Amino acid sequence: MYIHISEYHGLTGHVKKTLWFFQSSKLIWYNGIKYPLMRTQAVLRICEKYGQNHLVRHFLNLGEWQRSKFLKNLEQIDFPLLDSLYSNYVMGKKSFFDCSNLGPPEVISLPKTAKDKKLQEKAKMIGELLLREKKVSCLLVAGGQATRLGINTPKGFYPITPVKRKTFFQLFSEKILAISKKYNTEIPFFIMTNPESKEEVKNFFESQDFFGLKKENVIIFEQDVLPVLTRDGKIIMKNETEILSSPNGHGNSIKKLYDLGILHTLLERGYEYLFYFQVDNPLVKIADPIFLGYHRMYDADVSLKVVRKKSEDEKVGLYVSLSGRPAIIEYSDLDPETANLRDKNGDLIYWAGNTAMHVFSLEFLKSLNDQGFAFPYHVVEKKIYVEKERKEIDVLKFETFVFDCLLRSKKTCALEVIREEEFSPVKNSTGPSSPLTAQKDMSHLFKKWLKASGIHAPLEVQVEISPLFAIDMDECIEKLKGKNLTIERDIYIE
Ligand code: UD1
Repeated sequence: MYIHISEYHGLTGHVKKTLWFFQSSKLIWYNGIKYPLMRTQAVLRICEKYGQNHLVRHFLNLGEWQRSKFLKNLEQIDFPLLDSLYSNYVMGKKSFFDCSNLGPPEVISLPKTAKDKKLQEKAKMIGELLLREKKVSCLLVAGGQATRLGINTPKGFYPITPVKRKTFFQLFSEKILAISKKYNTEIPFFIMTNPESKEEVKNFFESQDFFGLKKENVIIFEQDVLPVLTRDGKIIMKNETEILSSPNGHGNSIKKLYDLGILHTLLERGYEYLFYFQVDNPLVKIADPIFLGYHRMYDADVSLKVVRKKSEDEKVGLYVSLSGRPAIIEYSDLDPETANLRDKNGDLIYWAGNTAMHVFSLEFLKSLNDQGFAFPYHVVEKKIYVEKERKEIDVLKFETFVFDCLLRSKKTCALEVIREEEFSPVKNSTGPSSPLTAQKDMSHLFKKWLKASGIHAPLEVQVEISPLFAIDMDECIEKLKGKNLTIERDIYIE
């Protein structure tokens, strides 16, 4: 027996229930197409149960082919999870942080004394050994949507370097290649993208021959997504048959590395550490031996690099002590008065800006998953362009953050680094933290390397040094020893 689908909605609850019970193996018939009654009813009932009746109405208004597509998409949604996220984090305003127990963090400051410098040298030697012994892998998280930068390609494709205009992806790959050559090592390079950009990123790397890296050492994988919600908790249609979803945060990388068997394979092959970085910072020192060495010396589960905040309202996460435990809290979670608290010298008490560069011990990442990945969610409010509405709308996204693993780490090592040498993130299309500021910072740093090598570059020229020429100032000095170079216009050194 078939029931005409347009009749479904008119049925009373009792009749629906009866149909559900007695005819669950039958088919719904509509315009010559048969739908399994059980499947359709089950999905539509779940939508109703979780207050998403507009999806049922939408389904009933669709044409025949669109219905089966839409149904498939509805089946992918974890309705109970979304419902609990909305009730807890939006309605219940559940916050992960109790900022009443905030304190300044413990950080290894920039080396000042001879003893500090000796310790740093020791860290470097240890880190170099870890690299030589093939203990280090890298993870780039590039699953964000670059909404603030306002480009319609993945951020990794942005031509960021000051002279050659290399993309972020090329720059990072060359840094890894340079480190691999220098230490005669193999560094597996993992890149997390969102599902929409994975193929594009893969094709890009293939078309560029992986920028000289071994193809098998570049592993591109996609992260999970979650539907976004309106402020009143409704799921949003992207178009006639698809739901509007968004990547579920970089915390997902820890779960994906485990679920995809990557952690297991790395450990089996003797790797011990993962250097983690974001797609937006061209100054990142990938697999920095000093950082790796400190991580090892401290026997840390997680390490992070911090910089002094430029001002109390700089939009960076803050490394703090929370009820005696190390934690990173987002600038948006801290009220302006607390953010501006100062010590007797007038310096910010909460000064340690998160650069989003980490070293993780692989065993620790495994342990976070062994008992089931359970990171808290954060509600992120964003404007997203919606194809169906043909305009931007305010949405709520739910994300897990990688740095929440700090709360589960037994030992953490935080290292202060010099901003000008390591941190110039690209967030906006213009103004602060934009491509222009990053290009200036890159050129400025390379000029400093040249100066240390006895070469002057005029103020108005742009300088770019390929990572394959020199990965740091020491290498630059070494390579340019005894060379006479006159710089009069923009220069790329390779
Ligand atoms: C981030 C940090 C902030 C830090 C700043 C340094 C968070 C929440 N905050 O801010 O503490 O001070 O960088 O520059 O991370 N990504 C994914 N998948 C996702 C979401 C993001 O891979 O689902 C990636 C992005 O591609 C990017 C990185 O994670 O590489 C951070 O993105 P975003 O969420 O924009 O954080 P920021 O506001 O930049």
